[in-house]
Amino acid sequence: MKIGILGGGQLGRMFMQNAMNYPYEIFFLEPDISGPCSIFKNYFTQGDFKDYHTVLEFGKDKDVVSIEIENVNVEALRELEKQGKIVIPGPNCLEIIKDKGLQKNFYKENHLPTANFFLIDNKDELTPSSAISYPFVQKLRVGGYDGKGVQVIKNEEEMNKMWDEPSVIEEVADIAKELSVIVSKNANGEVKVFDVVEMVFDQKLNLVDYLFSPADLDKDLAHKAKDISLKAVEAFHTPGIFCVELFLLKNNEILINEIAPRVHNSGHQTIEANYSSQYDQMLRVLTNLPLGDIATKEYAAMVNLIGESAYEGEVVYQGLDKIVKLSGVYIHLYGKKITKPGRKMGHVTVVGTSKDEIENKIQEIKSNVKVISK
Ligand SMILES: Nc1ncnc2c1ncn2[C@@H]1O[C@H](COP(=O)(O)OP(=O)(O)OP(=O)(O)O)[C@@H](O)[C@H]1O
Ligand SMILES: [Mg+2]
Repeated sequence: MKIGILGGGQLGRMFMQNAMNYPYEIFFLEPDISGPCSIFKNYFTQGDFKDYHTVLEFGKDKDVVSIEIENVNVEALRELEKQGKIVIPGPNCLEIIKDKGLQKNFYKENHLPTANFFLIDNKDELTPSSAISYPFVQKLRVGGYDGKGVQVIKNEEEMNKMWDEPSVIEEVADIAKELSVIVSKNANGEVKVFDVVEMVFDQKLNLVDYLFSPADLDKDLAHKAKDISLKAVEAFHTPGIFCVELFLLKNNEILINEIAPRVHNSGHQTIEANYSSQYDQMLRVLTNLPLGDIATKEYAAMVNLIGESAYEGEVVYQGLDKIVKLSGVYIHLYGKKITKPGRKMGHVTVVGTSKDEIENKIQEIKSNVKVISK
């Protein structure tokens, strides 16, 4: 069986690290000739996954076509499906998710909880007289990632910051915790829901410090988070692997922020901490194998290795020798040659038997490891 993946970044690379143990051939389509999957030379095609003909050509000798990035040509996937290829996630799902406006409408239509919102085509539709209340969130409908394309407008003076593009205008959620849930579903309709993961914030820097699994939540809330995630995924009526990003509000309500129809940054720790990882689930979904056991084995945390702000150029990882001495610490570098401020260059997963143990190891990582350039 030949499986084609649109995108060849770190998610594809971690997918391949597991998938190569199975009797299938995996191929990647990626524009960046030196991207994380370029190391799989015989299985790597350089090309633009946003281009109709390139995707069609790439898919023509594959049995299954999937993605590791949403921003791909959906029309080509529709055509490949017509030609009898298995396309996962289904093109309709992808089309909805690629556009945050359609995505929010989808939640509303399916009675799935999400922050109140409305859509605008340009900034002039929002005038002081349109009875908006401050603060509010503006999200570009298409093309945003890693928080780029999301901003909070605090008051009338900030209205001049508004982007003049089709956007979602959303209420600011009163967030207690940001959570995420990975869900896998195969073509037989079998479904697995991973334990809830929580983003632990650095209170001083107001940045995500690390991800912790399973989330520190009472049982009822964890159950509710998983239940909403499952319902949301079922509403798309397609096999796939999904990451449901959730807000737990201070009043214990849970809202869906957004869904990624692919493996996700918040599921990296499943490689070490769960019996079957998100990447293994993806492989099983694409080949319609039984989904197996996704149970959590241990507490785990994942810290992203991000390019330091003052460095751009050929990457150097400082301090790795210090942390590889520790037990239950796993380094994942993505093979990107050039670091840039804020670029995701790798991550470190730590596992342990208590939250305290995990926190200590995370502090070791953060105080020792730096991503800089030569
Ligand atoms: N309605 C909201 N109220 C409060 N905070 C919000 C709201 N919407 C988004 N945020 C904050 O902005 C962050 C990024 O938003 P969102 O996930 O929609 O953007 P993104 O570009 O897709 O991000 P990423 O790629 O990191 O998932 C959220 O994780 C959350 O911290
Ligand atoms: Mg998000």
